[in-house]
Amino acid sequence: MEPNLPKIPINWPKPRIEVEEMRGYTAPLEGRRNLLRLDFNENTIGPSPLVVEALRRIPANHISIYPEYNQLTEAVINSLNSSPLAVNLKPQQIGLFNGVDAAIHAIFHSFGDRGDALLTTTPTFGYYSPCAQMQGMQIIAIPYVGKNFDFPLKQIRLSLLENKPRLLLICNPNNPTGSKLTADKIIKLAELAPQTLIVVDELYEAFTGDSVLPIVDFNSLPNLLILRSLSKTAGLAGLRIGFAIGNSNIINRVNRVKGPYDINSFAVTAALAALKDQAYVDAYVTEVLRARDWLKAKLKINGVRHHVGGGNYLLIWPKNAPSNINNSLKKEKILVRDMAGKDLIDGSLRVSIGTTDQMKIFWEAFKKAESI
Ligand SMILES: Cc1ncc(COP(=O)(O)O)c(C=O)c1O
Repeated sequence: MEPNLPKIPINWPKPRIEVEEMRGYTAPLEGRRNLLRLDFNENTIGPSPLVVEALRRIPANHISIYPEYNQLTEAVINSLNSSPLAVNLKPQQIGLFNGVDAAIHAIFHSFGDRGDALLTTTPTFGYYSPCAQMQGMQIIAIPYVGKNFDFPLKQIRLSLLENKPRLLLICNPNNPTGSKLTADKIIKLAELAPQTLIVVDELYEAFTGDSVLPIVDFNSLPNLLILRSLSKTAGLAGLRIGFAIGNSNIINRVNRVKGPYDINSFAVTAALAALKDQAYVDAYVTEVLRARDWLKAKLKINGVRHHVGGGNYLLIWPKNAPSNINNSLKKEKILVRDMAGKDLIDGSLRVSIGTTDQMKIFWEAFKKAESI
């Protein structure tokens, strides 16, 4: 139950029991404009100018016609094929979604039954649990291991064999710990558990370059499904566009539960333009990695406890109460994410990485708040 909501009265229309008992995904999403947003791991400088230009040129009838998707599917394939680790995909192996969130929702809807198990790790991305709960699934969440938050490979293997979960969700690199699992190990997990659908959420893959995509054969491993998004690197979070890549039969089943026009025409237009400008995304990723190194060095020299893995974010444990630091940063118009209550990382703040200049602004405000 949501904390402050009363139960639905007995004589009202009855929601499904799973819905009545679950807790919806919540995040401090409002009032973020005009601030330095280091709280949602978004692109902090906006999309390619080609995207803005393409959106500006949209004619009126583009708005009154239902969207079309084939061109975008082709563009996604071309973009993946032209990456250094070219893969050879067919249109039926690509699912388009209203953000990866919608892909996750559809995966649970099509593959998660009441009483089935979701196997995942903890702490991890917060939307997997409500999706499992709305299906009435049980959640097995295995903690990351040790002070480096290593992927709990042994325990996941054991659980795959013992619990035979319907779904395994691996966020790689993991949000928020940055923990990574190498592609060959993911393949081995998929070989070990052919009846578990193993979903690899590669939202932050661009920051590590460790994708399982170049080495997976979806014919021999139909139980592997990969998720990618244009939210974080390409800067289209507000338009919502994400992809699922996998065996065509699996993609077909996940597609069955989505609405006919879930992705709107603006998102399609923006995605086509974004995919044409890979150089913009590559330059942004390079800058973020440079900024991450810059901040990491500052934290190290000044003895601030921190943890950096893959991804455009890192964790910091302030000496003062995190909620106080969070409030002080807010006064300086900087947003970060308090990890209070999260397994293993309670007491930390997750800071998204933007440009080096933005990290300098953050660092000055953080030093002031901590009296460094
Ligand atoms: C690991 C992970 N998966 C999925 C999402 C959602 O991505 P999208 O914006 O494509 O829905 C996020 C967003 O923060 C995320 O961190």
